[in-house]
Amino acid sequence: MSEQPLLVRPMTVSDCAPVAALRVRGWRFAYRGLMPRAFLDALEPEWHAERTRERLARGGDGVDLVAERDGRVVGWVSWGPYRDGEATTGDSELYALYAEPDCVGTGVGRTLLETVLRDWGGRGRMLLWVVEGNTRARRFYERAGFRADGAREPYEAGGVEVPEVRYALGG
Ligand SMILES: CC(C)(COP(=O)(O)OP(=O)(O)OC[C@H]1O[C@@H](n2cnc3c(N)ncnc32)[C@H](O)[C@@H]1OP(=O)(O)O)[C@@H](O)C(=O)NCCC(=O)NCCS
Repeated sequence: MSEQPLLVRPMTVSDCAPVAALRVRGWRFAYRGLMPRAFLDALEPEWHAERTRERLARGGDGVDLVAERDGRVVGWVSWGPYRDGEATTGDSELYALYAEPDCVGTGVGRTLLETVLRDWGGRGRMLLWVVEGNTRARRFYERAGFRADGAREPYEAGGVEVPEVRYALGG
C-alpha cells in the first residue's frame, strides 16, 4: 500500500464530505479510550462537512490540502496563522492533520506535514495543539522535530476532561 503514489492538492468544496467522514473516523480511531464511546458514536460527518463548506466559501488565509491515493481522499491537513484570541502573532498553526485510519503508517501524515512545512518556510514558529493522551500523534510530531512547549489547555469532550498540550517547531 505504501508503494502507491500520493497526490497532494488543494481541498475543494467537493472534498468536504469525504474529508468530514475521514475526520470523524480519525476521531474514533485516535480518541477511543480517551473520549466517551457515546460521544464518538454521535459525531456527525455532515455537520462537519457543512461547517467546512462555509469556511471555504468565506475564504481567508488558512490553507487546506488533501492527499489522494488511487482517486480516494486519504488525508487532510489545515494550517494558517496562529491566533491568540482575535490577534495573529506572526506564528503559524497546524489546525488539523488526519490520515484515513486504514492508511495510518503509510506516509500520508508525513507527506502532508512535509508539504505544509515546505510552504510555511520557517517564518516564526509552527504551533499545534494535540490531546495529551494522543500518544501516536505526539510521537509522530516529535519525530518531525516538534517539541512540547509547556502550554496546556483544558478541553472537554462528552463530559470528560481531555486536556490539550501545545507543540512548537522553529522560532
Ligand atoms: C497522527 C497521524 C496524522 C500520522 O499520520 P500517518 O499517516 O499515520 O503517519 P506516517 O505514515 O506518515 O508516518 C508514520 C510512520 O510511518 C512511516 N512511513 C512514512 N512513510 C512511509 C511509507 N511510504 N511507507 C511505509 N512507512 C512509512 C514513517 O516513517 C513513520 O514512522 P517513523 O517516523 O518511525 O519512520 C495519523 O496517525 C492520524 O491521522 N491519526 C488520527 C488523527 C490524529 O490523531 N490526528 C492528529 C490530531 S492533532
